[in-house]
Amino acid sequence: MNSIKSICCIGAGYVGGPTMAVIAQKNPHIQVTVVDINEARIAAWNESDLTKLPVYEPGLPEVVAEARGRNLFFSSDVNKAIDEAEMIFISVNTPTKNYGIGKGQAADLKFVELCARQIAAVAKQDKIVVEKSTLPVRTAESIKRIFDATNGDVKFQILSNPEFLAEGTAINDLHNADRILIGGEIETPEGNAAIEALVQVYESWIPRERIITTRLWSSELSKLTANAFLAQRISSINAISALCERTGADVDEVAHAIGKDSRIGPKFLKSSVGFGGSCFQKDILNLVYLCNHFGLPEVADYWEQVIKMNDYQKHRFAMSIINALFDTVSGKKITFLGWAFKKDTNDTRESAAIYIADELIQDQAEVHVYDPQVSPEQIKNDLIYLWTQRGVSADEAQKRFEQAVTIYSEPTEALKQAHAVAILTEWDEFKSYDWASIYASMLKPAFVFDGRNILDKEQLEAIGFKVKAIGKG
Ligand code: NAD
Ligand code: UDX
Repeated sequence: MNSIKSICCIGAGYVGGPTMAVIAQKNPHIQVTVVDINEARIAAWNESDLTKLPVYEPGLPEVVAEARGRNLFFSSDVNKAIDEAEMIFISVNTPTKNYGIGKGQAADLKFVELCARQIAAVAKQDKIVVEKSTLPVRTAESIKRIFDATNGDVKFQILSNPEFLAEGTAINDLHNADRILIGGEIETPEGNAAIEALVQVYESWIPRERIITTRLWSSELSKLTANAFLAQRISSINAISALCERTGADVDEVAHAIGKDSRIGPKFLKSSVGFGGSCFQKDILNLVYLCNHFGLPEVADYWEQVIKMNDYQKHRFAMSIINALFDTVSGKKITFLGWAFKKDTNDTRESAAIYIADELIQDQAEVHVYDPQVSPEQIKNDLIYLWTQRGVSADEAQKRFEQAVTIYSEPTEALKQAHAVAILTEWDEFKSYDWASIYASMLKPAFVFDGRNILDKEQLEAIGFKVKAIGKG
């Protein structure tokens, strides 16, 4: 196989955009075209003002500035890009199914299937198709069946190349990936040639020893497993945080102490208000579904517990606010600092903030929100989507939102006359606020609920705040 000269990526989202930008940056000889059916998103990727890219990610504007227009292009002409590319990445969304069989657990593969059908319909020459989306194990088989049934003249090789970047650190994760995983048909010469073609793309900047090649199914399953293990660590430390609060132990001290054991390691032991993001919950639910599907209910139950513990942690945080505020937040101004699911991203998918806001609003709180990157429309969409999914009418959801939620573009007004502040995202700027002035502007007793353990509890208490932090007795 000659080295690849043209790549197309279907899906210009949080993964497709940054990943392809870096592939283009590191491979100036490859033409990379990222396509999407969402024209507004493509227009935003083509914005000359780089602060308006659709994904907020440190370092991304610089990479886009270097490659865009040279060998990186964003377009909504999907067919043309498919036709011209030798290698096609599928990087579309694979959310949890919200209808029919597997509702609430299985991955919804309709977007992936549509891509496969479109590729099969358009392709005139042989193609390497790369699964970049996170998929259930053995999805490649289904994709292959579509290709075989639709387009007998063209040869397709399917690879699995899951993405391990985390949002907020995506560019660094892509530049310095711990490993690149490529699964393919290692049993056949054609399969090996396809794997080698993709290895070459990554070898432009990733050392060969960090590029792992496996069988297709191992690659697909490794992605789900990696996310399950990472989320499991967070649920484990969050479980311990509840015990810390009862016993007077300090969860950060416990995490530090156990993290020094080289077998455990220090990362992903930060106790929090609960993990969010588009991946952990959806991928574990998918794993649970697969385990049940393959007749392994005990294994399914084991992994499902990670999600249950996460739900418990979110609920526990909401309850700690209500309990501390004399068992009711009715009519009280609760200010949320942060709405994104973690710092340095504008992504809010499955953010703990959404669920905690909902619980407080059920107790008639007035929720006031400031987040440095998340748009007011996004916050509104998040809550209205949650409520309408639960059967609330669109009108009623709109009314509920208008009554209960106020959004700010700066923190001072958001905090004025508040009964309590809740830290939902660990944005660095929250640490440098003038907390003494904030205290002066709030109603007394003034409460801080630090859902990320980023503030200095003793210092806040010295100012006069009543402070509740996660896992601190
Ligand atoms: P996203 O929703 O941000 O982007 C997906 C894009 O695909 C959307 O813009 C959508 O319009 C587009 N799309 C859907 N169907 C299409 C079609 N038929 N033709 C053209 N465009 C189409 O999703 P994301 O966060 O980028 O995730 C993509 C995949 O990567 C998912 O499977 C996810 O699990 C996986 N993943 C995500 C992350 C992450 O941090 N977000 C990390 C690793 C893996
Ligand atoms: C995750 C995986 O890390 C990444 O490898 C995969 O490709 C996609 O899913 P992401 O969801 O973007 O990435 O961010 P991550 O840093 O993993 O954080 C996920 C959630 O866990 C966030 O809400 C974060 O605040 C929370 N978290 C993370 C903790 O509560 N404690 C920790 O110690 C780490």
